[in-house]
Amino acid sequence: MPFLNDDYKIRTRTLYLYSQKIHVNPSQVKTSPLHLFPLFLPPKFLPNFASMAVAELSPAYTRTDFSNSRFSYVSSSIRLSYHRRLSYRQLPRTPTTAIRCSVTSDQIQAPVGIDTKPKPDCFGVFCLTYDLKAEDETKSWKKMINVAVSGAAGMISNHLLFKLASGEVFGPDQPIALKLLGSERSFGALEGVAMELEDSLYPLLREVSIGIDPYEVFEDAEWALLIGAKPRGPGMERAELLDINGQIFVEQGKALNAVASRNVKVMVVGNPCNTNALICMKNAPNIPAKNFHALTRLDENRAKCQLALKAGVFYDKVSNVTIWGNHSTTQVPDFLNAKIHGIPVPEVIRDRKWLEEDFTKMVQTRGGVLIKKWGRSSAASTAVSIVDAIRSLVTPTPEGDWFSTGVYTNGNPYGIAEDIVFSMPCRSKGDGDYELVTDVIFDDYLRNRIKKSEDELLAEKKCVAHLTGEGIAVCDLPEDTMLPGEV
Ligand code: LMR
Repeated sequence: MPFLNDDYKIRTRTLYLYSQKIHVNPSQVKTSPLHLFPLFLPPKFLPNFASMAVAELSPAYTRTDFSNSRFSYVSSSIRLSYHRRLSYRQLPRTPTTAIRCSVTSDQIQAPVGIDTKPKPDCFGVFCLTYDLKAEDETKSWKKMINVAVSGAAGMISNHLLFKLASGEVFGPDQPIALKLLGSERSFGALEGVAMELEDSLYPLLREVSIGIDPYEVFEDAEWALLIGAKPRGPGMERAELLDINGQIFVEQGKALNAVASRNVKVMVVGNPCNTNALICMKNAPNIPAKNFHALTRLDENRAKCQLALKAGVFYDKVSNVTIWGNHSTTQVPDFLNAKIHGIPVPEVIRDRKWLEEDFTKMVQTRGGVLIKKWGRSSAASTAVSIVDAIRSLVTPTPEGDWFSTGVYTNGNPYGIAEDIVFSMPCRSKGDGDYELVTDVIFDDYLRNRIKKSEDELLAEKKCVAHLTGEGIAVCDLPEDTMLPGEV
């Protein structure tokens, strides 16, 4: 290999020791111009580019070149850091694919004085180092946060990611790194999403990486928005759905436990989200149980809209709406504690029958009605509700109000069974944490409805005992209750 320097040769051999699967054929290595790139780099960049050169020769490796977007894949199983990550892992892994930077020096035409050193883990333009000195003089930027999103190539994410990148979620002074998790099947679409993010030129979006291995993608994540899950197919039992999706959340919980920030906030959106959140939490014992959320904010927003419509007011006049329980047709939109213009809803809408029956059912089944219209699940409004849910945790809750989120029930003041994930009213100081609201009232109607949702979640929990480390699953759901989208 006459054109490769000694350092490169040594590193390539070291790589071979870490992964016996890789066989280096020097004659092939030197035919690709891409492999000349290590010559232009200081030694600290060499490991990744050495990986890149070898990866092309691996039989299991697939590669696509997009000359315009300047990226290429590397099998994550052959990165030099792989041996280090192995020590965290509890599950055997198959080789997976992740995007790595392949910006070559001749593609970068920067004026003298600008730092053009590529970053090792990145997508396309996000591989370049930003010079933030000029910005620092006029603005004060916060430390960049890492946000991981699963199901990143799906419809919900397609709305959500651009909101995250724009600053409307975490604020206009909060730089962000997006770590996008997809599947092998959706990988092309994931690349498309990353390319659109590049083309959007968001000043706050500092890094984008994409991959299909949660142990890679969740590394150092401070927020994990878990959207990806299988929809219930025709003829599929609810127990089967719980099992199939539960497996996904076992793996993702373990991955978060191994590699995410120790205080990562986890928002589970993939259905059945309450039980998926419980499974994820049980598989991540090193992350505080309090940090796991199941998204019920969409239901809260739907309830606010219906109350506003009925009362003939704009929906900003509706406050204190709680969704109790499961994100399913047993959920309880609480009109008893809700307010319109600060007045209890039953005093404004003097039609108890409508509140107990029509309103409640409308909220519980809104997802299904929407599917009938759209031919697919809600996506834009779900993304908006994820934004609302995060913002409720990172900004102080307005005085006297609260928001709903599905959280772990241990220590709850309402007498709801412990050890499930249940939607309840919360307040936040804006630090990402929350406390349960105590000034709520109950009547028999509300108690009975809450009990039904609680029973359902307790039954779901028994169905997934094999996934939460609590023994053998016994699945005896009281009735085939449904996700909001299944009606
Ligand atoms: C929704 O509430 O719109 C969704 O959870 C519906 C579904 O089942 O996907």
